[in-house]
Amino acid sequence: MSRVAYANGRYVLHRDAMVHIEDRGYQFADGVYEVCEIFRGALIDEKRHFERLAYSLTELQIAAPLRTGALAVVVREVMARNRIVNGFIYVQVTRGVAPRDHVFPPKSVSPSLVVTARHVDPEKNEIKARKGISVITTPDLRWKRVDIKTISLLPNVLARQLARERGAYEAWLIDSGGMVTEGTASNAWIVSEAGTIVTHQLDHSILRGITRTTLIEIIAAQGLKLEERKFSLEEAFAAREAFITGATTLIMPVVCIDGRQIGTGAPGQVASKLRAIFHDTAARSS
Ligand code: PDD
Repeated sequence: MSRVAYANGRYVLHRDAMVHIEDRGYQFADGVYEVCEIFRGALIDEKRHFERLAYSLTELQIAAPLRTGALAVVVREVMARNRIVNGFIYVQVTRGVAPRDHVFPPKSVSPSLVVTARHVDPEKNEIKARKGISVITTPDLRWKRVDIKTISLLPNVLARQLARERGAYEAWLIDSGGMVTEGTASNAWIVSEAGTIVTHQLDHSILRGITRTTLIEIIAAQGLKLEERKFSLEEAFAAREAFITGATTLIMPVVCIDGRQIGTGAPGQVASKLRAIFHDTAARSS
């Protein structure tokens, strides 16, 4: 079956989908995006993803390309035309097409909208979760507003490539004070020696992960202890467990950081349990 994409008002074959060479996303990375999980035919936490998209657009003063209701229709159409049961939807909005100039184009220039969908075999992720992943650490070289989900991801790309070259799945980014901010495409968590779940507090130096938000509700419902604060690499090395969260990974146990075994070296009980119950709580919309 041929893949179909939505590009600026039209459904087109994925291989034929085009954007203009003077799209500001292409020239300035002047745009934002969302990745939303599709699980058993339903979108997971769609409302929260759309709210974060609206936040990113507002922070960058980019006009919404469509009203939320219309965008929801497009997203469903792309899911249906690609017959995705399990996978992801990718939504990207840029400031639009205009002659190259750092200054914003006139208001008459409309934002560009692209929506694609991808199938994923959920069993592959489960196999990974049963084994646990390795992470490396590297300095956080990103700008100071990573709470905005921009398509400007060069430091993330470089860090992720470094992880790959070192045989790890993800890279944890370390701030100038030696504290872990987050992963290149995920939030970072530990379970401390005392059994407290710890993740970086919300501010401009991390993305407000949707999986993170939903997981915090699950943690509260389970009566587990949570601290939203910075943690150091040393604390992570000494942790009982570590894990990452994100729409593409869900809750994924980390068993090794910079070549050092975490806890028993096997996926931790807390992370595994939270992973197992995540989809029971996350909002589903079809
Ligand atoms: N990334 N932090 C960063 C830097 C991210 O890029 C992501 C998601 C997250 C987790 O957010 P969420 O739980 O909403 O997926 C945290 C997506 C999956 C990506 O870039 O592909």
